Amino acid sequence: MKESEIKKYYNKKIKELKKHNKLYFDDSAPKITDNQYDQIKKEIFDLEKKYSFLKSTSSPSNSLGYTPSKNFIKSKHRVKMLSLSNAFGKDDLENFEKKIFNYLNQKIDIEYSVEPKIDGISASLTYKNGILILGTSRGDGTTGEVITENLRTINDIPHKITSNDFPRNIDIRGEVFIKKSDFTKLKNEFANPRNAASGSLRQKNPEQTKKIPLKFIAYTYGYFENKTIKKQSEFLSLLKKWGFKTSAHNKVLKTLNDLEYFHKKFEKIRYDLEYDVDGLVYKINNIDLQKRLGFTANSPRWAIAHKFSAHSAFSQIMDIGIQIGRTGALTPVARIKPVNIGGVVVSNATLHNEDEIIRKDIRVGDTVKIERAGDVIPHVIQVEFKKRDKNSKKFSFPKLCPSCSSKTIKEFNRLTKKYDAVRRCTNDGFECEKIAVEKMKHFISKEALNIDGLGKKVIEKFWDLKLIRFPQDIFRLNFLQISKLDGWGDISVSNLKYSINQSKKVSLDRFIYSLGIRHIGIENAKLLADYTKSISNFVNFVKTNKFNEFLNIDGIGETQINSLKKFFENKSNFKVIEELSQILNISDIKLNKNGKLLNNTFMFTGKLSNMSRAEAKSLIEKNSGSVVSSVNKKLKFLIIGEKPTIRKVEQAKELGIKILSQNEWLNLLD
Ligand code: IVH
Repeated sequence: MKESEIKKYYNKKIKELKKHNKLYFDDSAPKITDNQYDQIKKEIFDLEKKYSFLKSTSSPSNSLGYTPSKNFIKSKHRVKMLSLSNAFGKDDLENFEKKIFNYLNQKIDIEYSVEPKIDGISASLTYKNGILILGTSRGDGTTGEVITENLRTINDIPHKITSNDFPRNIDIRGEVFIKKSDFTKLKNEFANPRNAASGSLRQKNPEQTKKIPLKFIAYTYGYFENKTIKKQSEFLSLLKKWGFKTSAHNKVLKTLNDLEYFHKKFEKIRYDLEYDVDGLVYKINNIDLQKRLGFTANSPRWAIAHKFSAHSAFSQIMDIGIQIGRTGALTPVARIKPVNIGGVVVSNATLHNEDEIIRKDIRVGDTVKIERAGDVIPHVIQVEFKKRDKNSKKFSFPKLCPSCSSKTIKEFNRLTKKYDAVRRCTNDGFECEKIAVEKMKHFISKEALNIDGLGKKVIEKFWDLKLIRFPQDIFRLNFLQISKLDGWGDISVSNLKYSINQSKKVSLDRFIYSLGIRHIGIENAKLLADYTKSISNFVNFVKTNKFNEFLNIDGIGETQINSLKKFFENKSNFKVIEELSQILNISDIKLNKNGKLLNNTFMFTGKLSNMSRAEAKSLIEKNSGSVVSSVNKKLKFLIIGEKPTIRKVEQAKELGIKILSQNEWLNLLD
């Protein structure tokens, strides 16, 4: 058969599978037996194995093939299910501890609970009076899918717990996974054990879940009524006592050296374990200390995942493409001959930036070593120069933007006195097609407007069909027109309409983040929202170009200010925010109005003991107070630490502002 014929046949099979997925998952009206269904899947799988050029995002080997999330009721987690930040080596670990010491403003000895990072699917189990009443998937971390019945089929999950000391109301969290030995039997259906576990767990019919032997290992909690435990290791022992399975490899260790030694040892035995692990998790053992350290936007400050080293393989670069990101960065990507690296077929590898290509002298046609670690994008680590063709030519990086032909530049960093390694398109607005599409993908993403049903692929399609050019166009879509498009039915259109409408209500910080301004991530968007309080204020700052005032915000510096200025100098960006502020219902920042420090303003001068400025500020804000950065009449209290700025103290005295020592201030809070 010719390649084109094979492709045609393969696509036909994929389409067939999709049809039966819909019949099974959405309509609950399968037209074929499970056996026949498995046959189609197997055929697709065999074709892919035989012909490496076959690829489809809907392939059952690529993903689960289908995401039946609309079939599950959603439930908001009482306590968010966060993820962990990653460490790949000593530097990252040292950096992790350094950040903790900075936050606490003191160096301390830390004890860690060390646990294997099982590569499965996390789940949360709510028990009330010892009875399992709800089971959910992680979902987007804030809201999960209700999969109670499916979770109940797992033998390791107790339905009822009678221990006297089991909390009356608690969420137990852990990992659902499938043993490697059980996966061998399912090899033809799923790409890896994790996908098998996920697919099984999200079956509509729990009877189907039962067919795949899932396991559960517990490791943490969400909501926990009357929590008295003091250590994570203590909690792990309790879990065991209550009847949950816990990892046999959990450990308590003290120094970074010990962590590294154990990591090295464990890396050697990881393949002997009965389940997949992709690293170790280190959690600060002391729960009070965990509480003090708190969280950043997505992950706790008190825990980190130390990944195992990557898998690698050799392949050949067929071409080098240039991707253009939301902020204009030109990222070169090597299109390589598909190669299996640690169980995943890789056909693209990032080359990071122009400097990386120059430094490693990477060329089209080169044989290269590619590395892939966990969920990180595969990258080229070295060129096999011996295998290089004599006629190969240096790669010439485009000097004009491949999308809009604007000039591209490498920015000069005044701090490091070096040129940036990344080349960027100078167009910051919607005039560059690729940037515009990326901006819109960012706008609809989970952490921004979170428009379910309007995924990245749909954005691209709607762009191609000229249905959208700016984010505000999303709210003016003609749904009748969409319902006539291929692949759209009444249900999907009404879901889309619903989720677009839902997204109109958005908090100010998410809205600022959704604009996709360079250097304004979630954390900085929160700082700007807290400072400006309402969208009308924010728009006013933009209109009057008063960005310099943001320098008052602890955490916002020149880099962010310059980026804001540049962003809003562009007329289309300005138009976007003006129009969106009319269309959307952007809620003001609501203050906690019950705290002890309400209506009180504070300022710090000098070094605080055993506490960083960031922690002190968050303590004040948690108690409804606010922190300002200059001495003026609005200031109520000046808190002085070690070596205060004399001028500030004198100014405060002149204005009759109360001066407090750190202890006096802490006494205000008990
Ligand atoms: S603790 C805030 N402990 O890793 C604490 N997670 O990237 C978050 N995981 O979604 C979870 N083993 O699916 C924790 N011993 C362990 C874990 C573990 C595996 C997974 C879990 C989570 C992801 C975090």
